[in-house]
Amino acid sequence: MAETRPSRDLPAPVVVVGSGIAGLSFALKATRHAPVLLLTKKNAVESNTNYAQGGIACVTSAEDSYELHVRDTLEAGAGLCHEEVVRQVVEEGPARVAELVELGVKFTEREEGGGGPDLGKEGGHTKRRVLHAGDITGKELERALLSAVRSHPRITVRENMVAIDLITTKKLKRRGPNRVVGLYALNANRNQVEAVAAAAVVLATGGCGKCYLYTTNPAIATGDGVAMAYRAGGAVANLEFVQFHPTCLFHPDAQTFLISEALRGEGARVVNARGEDFTKETDPRGSLAPRDIVARAIDGEMKESGAPCVYLDIRSRGAEFLAQRFPEITGTLRKLGIDPVQQPIPVVPAAHYQCGGVKAKLDGRTSLAGLLALGEVACTGLHGANRLASNSLLEALVMAHEAAEKLPESLAAAPKGDRLPLWKEGQAHDADELVVITHNWREIRQLMWDYVGIARTTKRLRRAKSRLRLLLQEVEEFYWDFRVTPDLLELRNLALCSALIVESALRRRESRGLHANADYPGLAKIANDTVIKAGEL
Ligand code: FAD
Ligand code: SIN
Repeated sequence: MAETRPSRDLPAPVVVVGSGIAGLSFALKATRHAPVLLLTKKNAVESNTNYAQGGIACVTSAEDSYELHVRDTLEAGAGLCHEEVVRQVVEEGPARVAELVELGVKFTEREEGGGGPDLGKEGGHTKRRVLHAGDITGKELERALLSAVRSHPRITVRENMVAIDLITTKKLKRRGPNRVVGLYALNANRNQVEAVAAAAVVLATGGCGKCYLYTTNPAIATGDGVAMAYRAGGAVANLEFVQFHPTCLFHPDAQTFLISEALRGEGARVVNARGEDFTKETDPRGSLAPRDIVARAIDGEMKESGAPCVYLDIRSRGAEFLAQRFPEITGTLRKLGIDPVQQPIPVVPAAHYQCGGVKAKLDGRTSLAGLLALGEVACTGLHGANRLASNSLLEALVMAHEAAEKLPESLAAAPKGDRLPLWKEGQAHDADELVVITHNWREIRQLMWDYVGIARTTKRLRRAKSRLRLLLQEVEEFYWDFRVTPDLLELRNLALCSALIVESALRRRESRGLHANADYPGLAKIANDTVIKAGEL
């Protein structure tokens, strides 16, 4: 059988999949121990990271404390956070953020009071603690991290490489404990699948917002990492906790555009068409309650009134403040004909963040040897049943650091210069009806929106499960019959990730944080993670 081996018999590199904050930060730190090959499926900048607005939650002010940040995170997480993980992330935060500044990330500074970072506030935070670069924090992070990665002599970046599946010793029918030894990736420039040997594979593939019809996520967020890890035998956890951001812009020409929670931190209120602040009826914190609570209140209000959206009213802050603090948001709204100084902004909740993911330790180790998972793709226990705003970028930074520190341990049993079988195309031919792929994409995203959204019932979840079973079968048939394309690969992952979300949701017989099931309205006595292991779906 034809095989590939690392070029010139050099030891296999550490292969990082993904060029968001997790993948880039890890790559920069991992080079101390090994050369890094970073694969990313589109232009390197395309990632959820690039669209982050609010910023990074981190204790930097004398009025704040680790204890308060820990408490806010635990409170938002609705009893399911792993406290030791929360403490470590919060306490390591300042050191990791200082490294970003050293790397050249420019956070917005306070104009008065002798400088220091300007700190934003978001839902669930009892203090101002969110460092930001205006309202384009993600773009600034990608700019600085990518520029350092691209100029690093030990890192090779390959764009348009879509990771397909992990290669394990079990799949290769080798003796001994199962281990990830590489992956197959579609080189989308040449339409060829390559086998890539790896001393370790690091999934930094982000989330799965595209499982839903309406999302704040860009096109890359198709749950590839969760699907790949699960197919390879890895355990996944807490996937039922899909976070819906309360305030995605409601406009036909900008369906994924986020209106940052930071606006609420600066005084914006969520109101209905009559201008009533209905969020106060469910929580005294009103518009600044954690996201699960605000999104549910909006969902309830829209269902009751039949209105297509609610509104975010920040008129009180005036033109000068808005232009200076939120230039990107204000500019985008104006281009769309909405003047936030004169009128409330129409908004709706949309799928935003995957709180669950590949079950991982804070140093990225998963249930599979040779596989690390970092950032949004991972479930470490930090977020519990609902992520506190702006804790995601922080988690990715801390994980990247911890994973790089422990990399020698992860590499200890790595094979040297492994030979891998080439991808077999078999009888596959070009798909004659590509439109079927589009239809299935649409069907999955619509059914996830209709049956697995903010308010759930067991009947609807079961309905989603049986439809997804058929869709999964159909997609697997395409996968084996046709030559793979990026769209087909993403559809396959989207279908599996959606099925895992539904299975997780059915297993949780309570309502907690982001998961609200009308058939189980109360909390279970014991809070447990929902873990799905290989073959259980
Ligand atoms: P990502 O940044 O999503 O990167 C994933 C990478 O993996 C991408 O490069 C992608 O192309 C690549 N990839 C995926 N699949 C494959 C594959 N099969 N093969 C090859 N490459 C692949 N969080 C905060 O803490 N603060 C905020 O202010 C904030 N604002 C947000 C605003 C928006 C609009 C969105 C969508 C999210 C926001 N979040 C925020 C969440 C946060 O941005 C993300 O959770 C975080 O950036 C995830 O980083 P990551 O590196 O794990 O993944
Ligand atoms: C936002 O700016 O509202 C997004 C922050 C986050 O997702 O943490």
